[in-house]
Amino acid sequence: MKSFLELAQARQSDRAFVAGAKIEREVLERIVEAARMAPSACNGQPWHFTVVTDENILADYVKAIVGLGMNKFVKDAAALVLITLESTNFSSRVGSGIKDKNFPLMDLGIATAYMTLAAEDEGVGSCILGWFDEKRIKELAGIPNGRRVMLIVALGVAAGAKRRKVRKAFDEVVSYEKY
Ligand SMILES: Cc1cc2nc3c(=O)[nH]c(=O)nc-3n(C[C@H](O)[C@H](O)[C@H](O)COP(=O)(O)O)c2cc1C
Repeated sequence: MKSFLELAQARQSDRAFVAGAKIEREVLERIVEAARMAPSACNGQPWHFTVVTDENILADYVKAIVGLGMNKFVKDAAALVLITLESTNFSSRVGSGIKDKNFPLMDLGIATAYMTLAAEDEGVGSCILGWFDEKRIKELAGIPNGRRVMLIVALGVAAGAKRRKVRKAFDEVVSYEKY
């Protein structure tokens, strides 16, 4: 079993999936369950996860995601998880306002990170997507106008090999006691 650090080091944005490969429902559920367990400001949990797995329905979503040469690989994803920003609770809204910080967006990012790490733990490939036709995605999923789909996570059986991680050097981004 991988340690958490090993999971974090191994997770990558997979941009090639095995065509036609499926992910078992229980596995998908565990991946989304991990996101549901994520922390959020004042426990506001301002999220909704829409899981799309039906092959015919997926095809329409793929059209709404692929654009300007981006994200073509989603055609082979076994599932997509739409991450919709919901209204948060009063305390989180007040806190966001007073501190001038967008807590709900941070919350979604954390939940998304949990989801992709859970996918890695399950041996499932993932890629976070910020580039897609949000209006069309909302139409397809029946998401009300006032809501935003901030991210989509594509899940599938990874077809490519693991890449070397490209990250800023430890000393460049970490300091002790002082900035
Ligand atoms: C908010 C966000 C949006 C992203 N949108 C896309 C996207 O639309 N398409 C894509 O291929 N990768 C997307 N990525 C993946 C990043 O490019 C990737 O995480 C980064 O290059 C680091 O590589 P790694 O995930 O393989 O470690 C997104 C990542 C984040 C966090």
